[in-house]
Formats: sequence, structure tokens, C-alpha cells
Amino acid sequence: MTVIGTGYLGATHAACMAELGHEVLGVDVDEKKIESLAKGEVPFFEPGLPEVLQRTSEVGRLRFSTSFEDAAAFANVHFLGVGTPQQKGSYAADLRYVRAAIESLVPLLEGEHIIFGKSTVPVGTAEEMQRLADSLVKPGSSVEIAWNPEFLREGFAVRDTITPDRIVVGVRPGASQAEAVAREVYATPLEGGTPFLVTDLATAELVKVAANAFLATKISFINAVSEVCEAAGADVTLLADAIGYDDRIGRKFLGAGLGFGGGCLPKDIRAFMARAGELGANEALTFLREVDAINMRRREHMVQLAKKAAGGSLIGKSVTVLGCAFKPNSDDVRDSPALNVAGQLSLQGAQTTVYDPQAMDNARAIFPTLNYAASAKEALQGADLVVLATEWREFVDLDPAEVAKLVRNAVIIDGRNVLDAKAWMDAGWTYKALGRSL
Ligand SMILES: NC(=O)c1ccc[n+]([C@@H]2O[C@H](COP(=O)([O-])OP(=O)(O)OC[C@H]3O[C@@H](n4cnc5c(N)ncnc54)[C@H](O)[C@@H]3O)[C@@H](O)[C@H]2O)c1
Repeated sequence: MTVIGTGYLGATHAACMAELGHEVLGVDVDEKKIESLAKGEVPFFEPGLPEVLQRTSEVGRLRFSTSFEDAAAFANVHFLGVGTPQQKGSYAADLRYVRAAIESLVPLLEGEHIIFGKSTVPVGTAEEMQRLADSLVKPGSSVEIAWNPEFLREGFAVRDTITPDRIVVGVRPGASQAEAVAREVYATPLEGGTPFLVTDLATAELVKVAANAFLATKISFINAVSEVCEAAGADVTLLADAIGYDDRIGRKFLGAGLGFGGGCLPKDIRAFMARAGELGANEALTFLREVDAINMRRREHMVQLAKKAAGGSLIGKSVTVLGCAFKPNSDDVRDSPALNVAGQLSLQGAQTTVYDPQAMDNARAIFPTLNYAASAKEALQGADLVVLATEWREFVDLDPAEVAKLVRNAVIIDGRNVLDAKAWMDAGWTYKALGRSL
């Protein structure tokens, strides 16, 4: 098989499919990325992926190329994992990369081929891509478009790809090879009991955005409640524990704090709203606007809290921001709440120093004007205020007594509600958090 687009999703999919025993060719238009992957180096941080990449490359099951001619000749099964970012000036998804990949690949194909889309796309895309493929394919050859949405989580991407929670395949009406081929591709997880759902194309596309909309809603729900907790003098973390024991609710994704970000949730809920509007179901998803607004308000609120904690003004204050990845175990800073807050603190006059175990290079590329320290210890030196913005284990495990020796003022804002508040206060810290009055 080939995997077209070798970013976070595609590189992981390619390596994990090779791990499952398949012969895989990863294809991307980014020469640097392909060069790096071909050398056995993963150009981003994903725990466990370098080992899988190296192992499968060494035995010759995984190769990389920038050539669509190679892709067309290599396999009859293709996975599409190119980016679908938010369009500039609109909420809708930008499908230019999906289209470009089809336009590059399909005219070169000979015989019968199947393309499984994995990118997250607006409902209706697969059908549109089938029409596009039909218009481009050589006479006598054929291409079937199916959709196989991806649910991997960055930080757990290898595990999620090799042993997924569920596999969803959307197939076209009428003659289709997609289910049979997918059963062969995913034989190993299917033998292991992974639920396998075959749907129509529209349902498969919607499953992915609906899942992300639900997760985003759950996070914004607790963050909205967190605002009320703050106003009422209650504690949102205890509240989340208490409601989380109800297994209809569940404690996961009820971590009140700085909110969600990354390359998926924000753009996916916006694209979902935009597409619902195009389909005439405008009112159905207006609540997602509120979900988005609650989420964005967290960042603003954090900056206000920091300002207050710094005595009313950030000008000239040394603020250390721990973390800039959008979540721990990732180097992804796309729409990262942590980096956004660091940037805002800096724009409001704070001397902002950032440290993240993995995301520094990506952050520096976006926000070159922040100070970047080589370690947490270096970042904390002389701080007037510390903001925990990404809940890396390294930060959760910090010893408050040791950290107190490094800073100028022992004031911390726990933006993720993950520190042991009592331990920090016992060590002499002024401890502040979103949604709690301590
Ligand atoms: N990152 C995740 O955790 C995740 C999880 C589930 C779904 N998704 C979805 O997967 C898709 C990809 O996300 P990502 O995070 O991997 O993005 P990414 O930006 O890391 O990777 C996209 C890759 O596609 C390549 N590309 C662009 N145009 C191309 C073309 N015409 N031919 C070949 N390659 C091309 C880019 O060079 C890039 O390497 C998106 O739709 C995203 O919503 C991502």
C-alpha cells in the first residue's frame, strides 16, 4: 500500500501498517520530510514511532518517495493522509491538498485501485473525490474512493493505530471492494477483537467530526462550569471528580484548565459548523460556536489571572511559561493554548521565558521573540510568576521546595489543574488555578 501525506497521521499510519506486516511506500510533496523519514528519522515527536519506523525500514517493508509515479506503480491500495487545515478567512476546511493528491495520483494509475481517505473532511468530500477520480482515471482503469477516518491521539499514535478502539470504513453504494480490502489491511486488529463498522461514505465522514465535536464540547462544558465555580468560590476539580463517578458522564475530558487546541479539534468543530450551514442545517451546530468561544476565553482568562497575580501589570515582569505544546507528549504547537498565552503575556510587556521538553523548535518558528530556556530549571531562574500551561509529567513532578529556590517570587498558576495544590502551598507558594479558589 501507499500512504500519501506523511505528517503526524500519515507517517504513523505508514510505519504502523509496515509493523502489521504490509509493504508500505510513504509519499509526500515535502522533500525534507521524506529525506528525514527515509533516513529512519521521524521529523516530529511521537513516543515509540522512531523505533517502529527504524525496525520496519531495516527489514525493507517501509520506504519513502516524493514521486507519484512510484506510488502509482507500487500498490493498488492507497491511504490519503494529507492536511485539511482551516481555510483562511473562513471556518470551512481547505481541501486543496486532498484534491491535489488525487489529481497527482489518479491519472497515473493502471488497473483497479482503491483510495482510502483518512484525512478529516467535510461530509460529502468522498463523493466529490470519487467524481474527480472518475474524471481523471485512464480508460480501462478504475479507482474506488472509500473513507476510513482516523482517531489516533498524538502522544499515543502508535498504540492507537496498531490497536484502535474501532475501525470505521465508509463505502460507496453499489459495487465496492473497500470492506474486503480493509478487512485484509486491518486483519491483525480485527483478530484482536477491534469493532469494525462499515457505513456509507457520509456517515464515516461525520463519525470523525462528531467525535471531535463531542470531545470539544465536554472540555468546554467543564470550563464553563469552571467559570461559575470561580464566581461562586467552588472547586471545579472536586466537582469534576464527583460528577465523573457517574459512568454516564465519566471523568475523562473533564480536566478544567486552559482548554483545547492542536491541529484537529479547533479546526474540526469550525469546519463541522461551516458544512452544516452549507447543507442547510445551520441551527444544528450553533452550540459549537459557544464551545469554541468558551475555549478561546480560557486563554484570555489565564492572561488576566496572570496580570492579577503579577500585581496588576505584566510590564517588566519575568514570567516563566512551562510548556508550549498543545498537549503533553507532543511537539505540536498548532493552535496551542500554551503558546498563545505565552505570546499574549509577552505582548502585554512580560519578559516571557518558555520551556517545553519537545516543542521548542516548533514554537520558536512561530514566536521567535519569546525567550526559550534549555531546561525547566533555567526557565524558572528569577521568575516573578510561573504559569504551568502544558501538563508534561516533568512539570507535574517538579519539587515545589526546590523550584522555590530558583524563582524570585513563589507564585504559580496551574493552568491545567494538575499540581498537588497543598504540596505547593505547604512549600510557601501562592498557588492559583483556573476554576478554584484556594
Ligand atoms: N494529527 C492528528 O492527531 C490527527 C488525528 C486524526 C486525524 N487527523 C487528520 O489527518 C490529516 C492530516 O493531519 P496531520 O496532523 O498529519 O497533518 P500534517 O500537516 O502533519 O501532515 C500533512 C502532510 O501532507 C503533506 N501533503 C500536502 N499536500 C500533499 C500532496 N498533494 N501530496 C502528498 N502529500 C501532501 C504535507 O506535506 C504534510 O506532510 C488532517 O485531515 C487531520 O485533521 C490528524
